[in-house]
Amino acid sequence: MKFEIKKRDAAGRICRFTTKHGTVTTPNLMPVINPNKMVITPKEMKKLFGTEIVITNSYIIKKDDKLKCEALEKGVHHLIDFDGTVMTDSGTFQSYVYGNIKLDPIEIVKFQRDIGSDIGTILDVFGTPDQTKKEAEQAVKETLKRAKKSTPEKDTMLLACTIQGSIYPGLRKKCAQQLSKLDADFFPIGGVVPLMENQRYTDLVRCILSSKQGLDPSKPVHLFGAGHPLIFPLAVALGCDFFDSSAYVKYANDGRMIFPWGTEKLDDLSELPCCCPVCSKFTASELKKIQKDEAILQLAKHNLYVSFAEIKKIKTAISEGWLWELVERRANSNPYLLESLKELMKKENKMWLEQFEPISKNKALFYTGSHTIHRPIINRIHRRLLTRYKQNSDTTIVFPEGKKPYASFYSQRIKSILKKGNVNIVVHTYIGPVPIELDEMYPFAQSVFPETVDKETVEFSQQIFDKFLKEQKVIRWKENKATLEKIIFQEETIDMDLRKISAVADMQFGKDAAKALFCGDIKIVKSKKTGKIRNVYCDGQHILSMRASDGLFTLKIKGAYLLHTYFKYPKLRVTVENDAVSFIKEGKSVFAKFVKDCDPNLLPRDECLIVDEKDNLLSVGRCLLNRTEMLSFNYGMAVKTREPVK
Ligand code: GUN
Ligand code: ZN
Repeated sequence: MKFEIKKRDAAGRICRFTTKHGTVTTPNLMPVINPNKMVITPKEMKKLFGTEIVITNSYIIKKDDKLKCEALEKGVHHLIDFDGTVMTDSGTFQSYVYGNIKLDPIEIVKFQRDIGSDIGTILDVFGTPDQTKKEAEQAVKETLKRAKKSTPEKDTMLLACTIQGSIYPGLRKKCAQQLSKLDADFFPIGGVVPLMENQRYTDLVRCILSSKQGLDPSKPVHLFGAGHPLIFPLAVALGCDFFDSSAYVKYANDGRMIFPWGTEKLDDLSELPCCCPVCSKFTASELKKIQKDEAILQLAKHNLYVSFAEIKKIKTAISEGWLWELVERRANSNPYLLESLKELMKKENKMWLEQFEPISKNKALFYTGSHTIHRPIINRIHRRLLTRYKQNSDTTIVFPEGKKPYASFYSQRIKSILKKGNVNIVVHTYIGPVPIELDEMYPFAQSVFPETVDKETVEFSQQIFDKFLKEQKVIRWKENKATLEKIIFQEETIDMDLRKISAVADMQFGKDAAKALFCGDIKIVKSKKTGKIRNVYCDGQHILSMRASDGLFTLKIKGAYLLHTYFKYPKLRVTVENDAVSFIKEGKSVFAKFVKDCDPNLLPRDECLIVDEKDNLLSVGRCLLNRTEMLSFNYGMAVKTREPVK
């Protein structure tokens, strides 16, 4: 099995997943195929929706003699006439729904292997939400036992080992940790169907988070039995890679239509709020009148169009960096889902989410509501302000929110203030306190808030503001002379450019990075067109470039030397194995399997120093993965290198 990250946002990722029947891009949706009754055939799904992977049920196949013989003889792909990736389930769900059915846990795994399933599933024990902790523990114990016994039987089939544990986060996490130690390939999060059915999204979020927190991050994760697109964005943002949908046909049988915001009964609709080929061909009243089987087929098609469209939207959101926005927008369409976002604000979950969050994005951060201020990227920038930013003086002048970029908007005032004395200048914004030197840095410049926001945001950013200026003498700017007179006159020239590059360096690379980098004669080159800082030279050597898009630095090898000399190992380092050294020196990128270790504080999109096992500097590059990912992935790029040592 090959599984590699290509793009990422939040804890979500676009990956390439390779099986014996080709490569699948995640996040992805597996329509459930009932081999007894295919409302839409997999082949047609491939044509209509680009379906790359489907899931069918080995228990249903095994208990029907005809299906069983055909599957054993010609394989499951032949049985359902599909040449893409086929996953099979084991009968766990049937035994949950219909009570104790006769099934041997190891026989069913061998059967899946023998019919040529690409991904087979163990016969896990379905953990229901109403289980006591003791019962749940027992079910997990049995699931683990079966998983252990199943792995030796898998042969070349990939094996899915389902995480159970009812609604007990500790138990889920433990189950995930234990399963991660086995020779398993695929990790469904099980037992969530009753949570979905009852819209218990807070519990669902807890199940996903605790399972993910116990799992090896390099493994594909499937949210078992959660086929409604309403929850896809959130589940992906928390790290789920696969969904399966039987909902498309179940709902169709019931006359219900799936939409990104929820479900509607066809009978209640006078208009079809959708542009899929089905809804473009029929009006609501026409669809209501057609013959039953045909109506089911059309509704099933609509349901899949909508479900796959949401997957495409999520992939776009990941590529472009607006997955959290999509999550918040979807949450705004369902109160239970909105409530579940509170789970993400718990300290442990906040910290967990932050390690996956890229340092900057391609797109500006958009406010969608009271949850925006709690996004991991804002959380991080607040902490960095409190721990990395160095105040220039003990006095701070505070400007109210103004037009961006603040330094231009307030340029006249800044000039008159700095003529008087060396003070800090901070803009009081909804995203938090913005020191004027950082006004072009992501996400300060690249964020859009409306003129008035909700109370929670106001209060939260006020708290950060107060913490940030706790030890400062604060002077709120007023358009009068008195403000200036409060500043103690000092005869010194203040170099705003140097202040800016120093503040950005400390925020980006860590406390004292400015000291390390700007240790000689500094020359700053600006763009003739925009007046923005472009390149920074130290003693004639080009050490940094500033990106116009996010106001952060890209590191040149001469700058890397300075940081490498100043900061002790492992700070900012990605250490590669000896075998990879010559490749890195040639300018090749660092693949995850060659990473020996990594600074735990390095994050996706961070600049890093690439070193050998003796901490000799080899190159400089940009991280695509965090430390735990670098150490667990066997495939894919970990660091994109930019400039090896000469
Ligand atoms: N289908 C829906 N939920 C589950 C689950 O928990 N386990 C298995 N094996 N299949 C499922
Ligand atoms: Zn439609």
